[in-house]
Amino acid sequence: MADLSVHFAGIRAPNPFWLASAPPTNSGAQIHRAFEHGWGGAVWKTIGAPVLNISNRYAGLSVGGQRLLAINNVELISDRPLDVNLREIAEIKRLWPDRAVIVSAMVDASPEAWREIVMMIEDTGADGIELNYGCPQGMSERGMGAAVGQVPEMCELNTHWVTSITRLPVIVKLTPNVTHITDSAHAAIAGGAHALSLINTINSVMSVDLDTLQITPSIGGRGTHGGYAGPAVKPIALNMLTELLTDEGVLRSGVPVCGMGGIQTWRDAAEFLLLGAGAVQVCTAAMHHGYRIVEDMIDGLSNWMDDKGFAALPDLTGRALPQVSTFGQLDLGYQAVARIDPDRCIQCNLCYVACNDTAHQCIDLVAPGGVRVNPGYDPRVNGRAVADTRPTPVVREPDCVGCALCANVCPVDGCIEMVSVPSTQEHVSWDQLTARRPEIASSWEAMMAYRKEQGIEIH
Ligand SMILES: Cc1cc2nc3c(=O)[nH]c(=O)nc-3n(C[C@H](O)[C@H](O)[C@H](O)COP(=O)(O)O)c2cc1C
Ligand code: SF4
Ligand code: SF4
Repeated sequence: MADLSVHFAGIRAPNPFWLASAPPTNSGAQIHRAFEHGWGGAVWKTIGAPVLNISNRYAGLSVGGQRLLAINNVELISDRPLDVNLREIAEIKRLWPDRAVIVSAMVDASPEAWREIVMMIEDTGADGIELNYGCPQGMSERGMGAAVGQVPEMCELNTHWVTSITRLPVIVKLTPNVTHITDSAHAAIAGGAHALSLINTINSVMSVDLDTLQITPSIGGRGTHGGYAGPAVKPIALNMLTELLTDEGVLRSGVPVCGMGGIQTWRDAAEFLLLGAGAVQVCTAAMHHGYRIVEDMIDGLSNWMDDKGFAALPDLTGRALPQVSTFGQLDLGYQAVARIDPDRCIQCNLCYVACNDTAHQCIDLVAPGGVRVNPGYDPRVNGRAVADTRPTPVVREPDCVGCALCANVCPVDGCIEMVSVPSTQEHVSWDQLTARRPEIASSWEAMMAYRKEQGIEIH
């Protein structure tokens, strides 16, 4: 059986599945139960400055019947007394010596405030400190959270205050509410961070209720921006992780990155690991389904690793990173076309409409007799009983540009596949082509001449 154990910036854990600093890690009793289910670690709900949380603080995004595809929260950090949190952290670490217990902290941007909280955290016996530079609401207005994370100089200075006084590993948790995540990462590294984690929540206004005309969540008739998280943010988190782990400065520093944002299953986690995360954290999925999801995560990841022949996590960490390219390095000559499996097709015509209205008009509807027909609703031939008489979509492959829209709208899994086909064009990247013929980048005449030479026709 695969070895799932993790050694992350000096912090050890039996597996890479850690609960993120958030409501699932609010108290010792909760983390105790979570550890009983098998979580490898937990980042305690952020402690530090005194706060008062408000009532009605979450809004959910449902799409097509799927609840909590994302959550938006206007919650602050822990509102439990500091001494209670600290006592419970110490108890949990004593009871669970093999699990990663990390304390998230946020205080005023001053060396004294950081010194005080860091000393208290060290006394608990915790394995590490995570600096919360992410909260986009409430705390940022007080000069903490995203207000620090969004200004590289502040990020470096605050990190330095902490790393210069503690013996514990310091993880800097980055905010995604920036243009260049690498600027924040460089600042944290310059401040002495031992590891990075990302992403914290994204600024958002979830919705406006069309019955009440209130912003959701409505807090006594008022609404404010909140932090967005959950399955819907996964692609943004994966991109930011990739940006960090392909960045020379970050790579040179050797600091590991803990990934989070939208992880629901072992598959999501495996994607983060393949893009280089040293461990992962989970919040919304645990809030949605409970702590037990980790049991499937552990089983799923270790079975998959066994199938793939990965004995331990370092065998797979970052395996997908070498594929990461710039657009300019992609092969302009690569060609794929959509191919429809007629045996799976339920003749819903969604692909036809999508291609016809918003792609390249290269799907024909062909009636059972082989005649090309137009779409339309015919009450005599529509419906289940006469499905055999409905027209079937057929791709005119020479006209297909391989945009993959049809494959994305098709409701039947595996019905439309994007198939790689031999290309008549030369295999060249944009960078190579424009290095050879720079005029192509600035003159339409030169571009058209190149297309003619290559036999490229775009309608
Ligand atoms: C309700 C809620 C409260 C959160 N509170 C904190 C917090 O106190 N400290 C912190 O660093 N992150 C906090 N987060 C952010 C999470 O730790 C995590 O970064 C984010 O939710 C992305 O992960 P996910 O998509 O698995 O939820 C909170 C998130 C949510 C949804
Ligand atoms: S891949 Fe794009 S262009 Fe080709 S058939 Fe599908 S929608 Fe049309
Ligand atoms: S979208 Fe898929 S199922 Fe619907 S007609 Fe096209 S190929 Fe068939």
